[in-house]
Amino acid sequence: MTPLQTGHAQTNNLDAFWMPFTANRQFKQAPRMFVGAKDMHYTTSDGRQVLDGTAGLWCVNAGHCRPKITEAIQRQAAELDYAPAFQMGHPKAFELASKLVSIAPTGLDHVFYTNSGSESVDTALKIALAYQRAIGQGARQRLIGRERGYHGVNFGGISVGGIVNNRKFFGGLLGGVDHMRHTHDPERNPYPKGETEHGAELADDLLRIATLHDPSTIAAVIVEPVAGSTGVLPPPKGYLKRLREICDQHGILLIFDEVITGYGRLGQPFAADYFEVTPDIIVTAKGLTNGVIPMGAVFVRNEIHDAFMGGPEHMIEFFRGYTYSGNPIAAAAALATLETYKEEGLFERAKALEPVWADAIHSLRGTRHVIDIRTIGLIGAIELEPIAGQPTKRAFAAFVEAYEKGLLIRTTGDIIALSPPLIIEERQIGEIVETLRPILEALN
Ligand SMILES: Cc1ncc(COP(=O)(O)O)c(C=O)c1O
Repeated sequence: MTPLQTGHAQTNNLDAFWMPFTANRQFKQAPRMFVGAKDMHYTTSDGRQVLDGTAGLWCVNAGHCRPKITEAIQRQAAELDYAPAFQMGHPKAFELASKLVSIAPTGLDHVFYTNSGSESVDTALKIALAYQRAIGQGARQRLIGRERGYHGVNFGGISVGGIVNNRKFFGGLLGGVDHMRHTHDPERNPYPKGETEHGAELADDLLRIATLHDPSTIAAVIVEPVAGSTGVLPPPKGYLKRLREICDQHGILLIFDEVITGYGRLGQPFAADYFEVTPDIIVTAKGLTNGVIPMGAVFVRNEIHDAFMGGPEHMIEFFRGYTYSGNPIAAAAALATLETYKEEGLFERAKALEPVWADAIHSLRGTRHVIDIRTIGLIGAIELEPIAGQPTKRAFAAFVEAYEKGLLIRTTGDIIALSPPLIIEERQIGEIVETLRPILEALN
C-alpha cells in the first residue's frame, strides 16, 4: 500500500489503479503526479511547473485548459449530455463531420467516429475488408503493415503493428497479415531534418509481398506517414508516393495512420497534405479534441463510402459502432478545438516554427550519448547510445531527471521523443534544449 499526499490534501492508495504502459511498481515508489495544467505547463502535486514538451501524449496541440474548449464541454454537458449513437443523431456530430471533411484532402468526404486511435485503426481495417467484399473483391483479405509501426493496442492494430512487445504476449493475432520492412536507416540518413534522402526504394517491399501472396489477396496497407512511437522515423523522399503508385496499380487501399500527424503536427492539417500523397483512408484521434475528451475519426474516400450504400435503404450498411461514437460532449470539444486551431492559426504557426525547432533540436548533436537526431514538423527525436546490456535505462533516467528539472519529455527505447503543443514560444523551444543539454551530459 502506497499512500500519497496529493496537492488536494487527499490520501490515495496507489495500488488499485493498474497503470497502462507504466512500470507500476517503480512508479508507485516515487509517483509523478500532475494536478493542474495551463497552456504550455503542467503543475505537479508538489506545486512545481513542468513545461510540456510532448503535448501530453502527442495530443494537446492547442495547449492546456484552453477556455473555448473547456466552456464548450461545460455548456454541452448541461444541454445534451448523451444521445444514443445508433439510429439516432444530434446536430453537433453532423456539424463536426462537415467541418472535418472541409479540412481533409479532397475526396475524403465521410467520417466515422470512434473514441481512440486504436479504435480508429481497427475501424479502418474493417472498412477496408468490408469495402473489398462490397465491390466483389472478397478474396482480398490480407492486411499489410510495417515493421516498427504503432497502430494502437487493439487486436487489429497490434497485428499490423510492428513492435515486438506489443505483439508477443497476445497469441496468434489476426491471420493473413504481413509486414513491409521499416524505413529507418541511420547509416545512410544520419541526423535528418524532414524527409530522409535515401530509402524510397523500400516502398517496393510492398511489391515483394504482393508478389508473394498475389496482389488479388491484399485488401489494404497501413502506415504511419511519420512513424512516431518507435522513435520518430520520417519517411524517405518519394517513399509514400511510391506506395501510393503500387496500391493504385494493384487495387490495394492505402491507409494513413495520422493519429499523431493529424491536426497540425506537421504544419498542415494532415501529413497527407505535407507529403502531397492522398490515401484512401485517414485514421485520426488525439488532436481531434486536443486530447481533452476521447474521440477518434476515420476519414474515408467517397468511392469507399458509396460502395456501402447500395443495398435496401432500411438495412444497416456497416455493422460497426460504439456507444460513444460521436458523443455530444466529445463533438462539442472537437468543434471548439477546430475553432481554436483556426482562430489562432496554429497549423500555420507549426509550419513557421518547423525550421526554428529543427535547428534547436539539432543543436544537441555532439552532446554526450547522442547518436542520432531526427526532426520533422514539430516532432523531434534524440536517440541515445543505450547502456550496454540495459536498453531503455539511459533514456528513462533522462526522462526522470527532466521531470525533476521542470520538463516533460517522452521516451521510447533509448530515444527521447518531443512533440510540444503548437502554441510553443521560441524561447520555450530554447528552454527544452537547454534543460536537456546538461541532463544528457551528466547521464551515466
Ligand atoms: C500512430 C498511432 N496510431 C494509433 C495510436 C493509438 O491511439 P490510442 O492510444 O488513442 O488508442 C497511437 C497512439 O499513440 C499512435 O501513435
